[in-house]
Amino acid sequence: MASPAPQVQILDKSDYTKQYLVTLHNADPLPDLAAREIRIRSRIISNTTNNFTYARLGHLFGWWNVWAAIPSLPAPYDDDSKYGRVSAWGYGEVIESKNDRVPVGTKLYGYLPIGSYPEALQVTVEDETGHVLETSERRASQMQIYNRYIPYPPELDLEADKSSRGLDSALRVFFETSYMLNRYAFAWDSANLSHPLGVPLPWSSSDADLANAVVVLLGASGKTALSFAYLLRQSRPAEQKPRKVVAVGSAQSRSFTEKTGLYDDLLLYTDISSTDDSIAARLGIDANTKVLLANFGGRGTVDEDLHAILTRASKSVITLIVGGDPQGKGSKLNALTEVPGSGVVVCNASGLRDSGMKSDGKVGYFDGLSQEWTRLKENGGINGLTLQWGKGMEDYSKGWDSLCNGSIDPTLGLVYEV
Ligand SMILES: NC(=O)c1ccc[n+]([C@@H]2O[C@H](COP(=O)([O-])OP(=O)(O)OC[C@H]3O[C@@H](n4cnc5c(N)ncnc54)[C@H](OP(=O)(O)O)[C@@H]3O)[C@@H](O)[C@H]2O)c1
Repeated sequence: MASPAPQVQILDKSDYTKQYLVTLHNADPLPDLAAREIRIRSRIISNTTNNFTYARLGHLFGWWNVWAAIPSLPAPYDDDSKYGRVSAWGYGEVIESKNDRVPVGTKLYGYLPIGSYPEALQVTVEDETGHVLETSERRASQMQIYNRYIPYPPELDLEADKSSRGLDSALRVFFETSYMLNRYAFAWDSANLSHPLGVPLPWSSSDADLANAVVVLLGASGKTALSFAYLLRQSRPAEQKPRKVVAVGSAQSRSFTEKTGLYDDLLLYTDISSTDDSIAARLGIDANTKVLLANFGGRGTVDEDLHAILTRASKSVITLIVGGDPQGKGSKLNALTEVPGSGVVVCNASGLRDSGMKSDGKVGYFDGLSQEWTRLKENGGINGLTLQWGKGMEDYSKGWDSLCNGSIDPTLGLVYEV
């Protein structure tokens, strides 16, 4: 039986909430592979508000240009000034290969196309790690994290270990971001210290110090924030732990966030007003308290409001921007990242991974990450977070709509077999 025509998600570049599920009736024949190329097909992909970031900031970071133009994409979607594709994390499978080191059937964990259209990758295998690196000129300007795929042998059956592979797809890259924040950006060992961007900018052990600090996480129910809260508890020497980790989120996510057991206190966005200094007192913050305010995608102006309150209360506040308002409201705090001494810094997962690989060596870096990730999985993952599986691109599109309109239950990690 002929396989069904592939489908891809196309987004309106000016408004990622407008999506089109396009069927490629004339996809065959696919373009020939060149020497050393492989053809992959997404098998399991996830959906989180991080995917919105790829669309929202795609024009700045090249995220619309990861995949080659599809020759069979019909009008009007072939107009790349208006329409484009972003990517999702998960597992793909090699379905054709002209590279002896990456045989057909190999599974690849990494950054994948949203759809069932097979894509050609130009790859090399890194001797040190065995990882598969995308080396095409088109992707040379992408941050390195997007060009590295972790391979698994053809014998790996994604179906046989579905819940574990689903968790990898839904959470692992966010866990990795927080692993790097915990180990390198907020290093307790100065040998590991890295600026949260992963570049050689001023960043001291005192900036990184979280011993006895109060840590406030905005968008605390998201996967990256939950991972950070988990790692602060599980993966620091006792004397290097913060004294309090505080969640800030919506009324809708409150019960889930509380039940994770990862936070010592919880505030709602609606509890916070920039002029209400009682919040600092409630959190036990005085002038000498070290504070980390970390934004993992808090809604509205909560980041600006809390920044105003906390910098009035304490002389020692670091503000870390990991994500922004999922609905795209810009933040005044972004401008402060350019101001020396403001204490406002941005996290870049790709830069941090480069730093981590330098600090621990490539193999050491991935081994360390893998050990922590396996420990989380063996401990049952994040308490209360469950996977919701969908099948096919129609389900993926429905999930995208639900995430866009905020009707997704925060306890769910969305994963799709496509
Ligand atoms: N800088 C980096 O290198 C880096 C790396 C990884 C992730 N990130 C960023 O971190 C942020 C969090 O990503 P994530 O994948 O961890 O988040 P996530 O798991 O998708 O976050 C889920 C939470 O977001 C809120 N939310 C969901 N849908 C929403 C909507 N339509 N409008 C407003 N809020 C909504 C809800 O929390 P509440 O209801 O409580 O608000 C929900 O519980 C993203 O901005 C991502 O791009 C950055």
